[in-house]
Amino acid sequence: MIDMRSDTVTKPTLAMRQAALESEVGDDVYEEDPTVIKLEEKAAEMLGKEAALFVTSGTQGNQIAVLTHCQPGNEVLMEANAHLFVYEGASISAFAGVQPRTIQGERGVMDPEEVRAAIRPDDIHFPETGLICLENTHNKAGGVVVPIENMKKIYAIAKEEQIPVHLDGARLFNASVASGIPLKTYADQTDTVQVCLSKGLGAPVGSIIAGPADFIKKARKWRKRLGGGLRQAGIVAGPAYVALTEMVDRLKDDHANATRLARGIKDIEGLRVEDVETNMILVHVDGLGHTAHSFLEELKEEGILAVPYGPKTVRFVTNYDVSTKDIDVAVDRIVSKYKG
Ligand SMILES: Cc1ncc(COP(=O)(O)O)c(C=O)c1O
Repeated sequence: MIDMRSDTVTKPTLAMRQAALESEVGDDVYEEDPTVIKLEEKAAEMLGKEAALFVTSGTQGNQIAVLTHCQPGNEVLMEANAHLFVYEGASISAFAGVQPRTIQGERGVMDPEEVRAAIRPDDIHFPETGLICLENTHNKAGGVVVPIENMKKIYAIAKEEQIPVHLDGARLFNASVASGIPLKTYADQTDTVQVCLSKGLGAPVGSIIAGPADFIKKARKWRKRLGGGLRQAGIVAGPAYVALTEMVDRLKDDHANATRLARGIKDIEGLRVEDVETNMILVHVDGLGHTAHSFLEELKEEGILAVPYGPKTVRFVTNYDVSTKDIDVAVDRIVSKYKG
């Protein structure tokens, strides 16, 4: 199977497996795991933040950020197709007691003036706007790199209004590699950031949240409350350190493979392939008379896996376990099935 359902499906590399075996460990709830400490310090340095915290997943990182920034009854602004809104089981409402308010973006990019207009005035009837959440790259929009200028404008507005900004940077490494803009420059436009080590970077487990030291201290407590205080976590932090320090540059290969796949299938009549910016390819299949599900069933018979991304849209994600040769095989199979 050529598995392009997500970049989360990769298996740990040999170096990661070795790190799991060899990393020094301690009780991380006592802050005594040297490998976790090393990972957190490295991540904070790379993101240009005072401190960082190792968390189990991107979802947990986002939840902890919202819980730490907000009070129950707050409103949180985010793009209408943000992962936090669509794919996290309404957990910010369930756990933090906040209400999301969405702003429809253009391919995931919000108009800063619409963000400004959505900030609540001081009025007894209204919730207080407690947080603005950004996402880069934007998953549902198809791995779109949100321009740094857009983030700067939104952050300037947030500063004027004294509202914190959190970045869901599950794939911020992809944004940085694709744009050539350093990670820190993106992170500078936010108060806190969450990055995933288990997506394109291939770690088996883990995300980082980074921000001011006093924020991370409170976040650590929220992580404990959520049951995310781990003990000898160096076992997973070791592979995560390999991901953070050895796997970033190779994301350019995933991006090249995504462009190669898109180019290879874009002339098939009945398929509409969206522009590729990073490691995701969105393909609309209704022109072939297919639904996403019927198209994916046929693809599976051809040995190719992707996921539905709407009733008539599918998403492919290139990843470490899919080689350029696999891409060429996938293109050949799709072209011979659907062309002419
Ligand atoms: C943008 C974004 N944020 C957060 C997450 C959640 O990450 P996790 O699956 O580690 O909980 C994902 C997962 O795909 C994502 O794409």
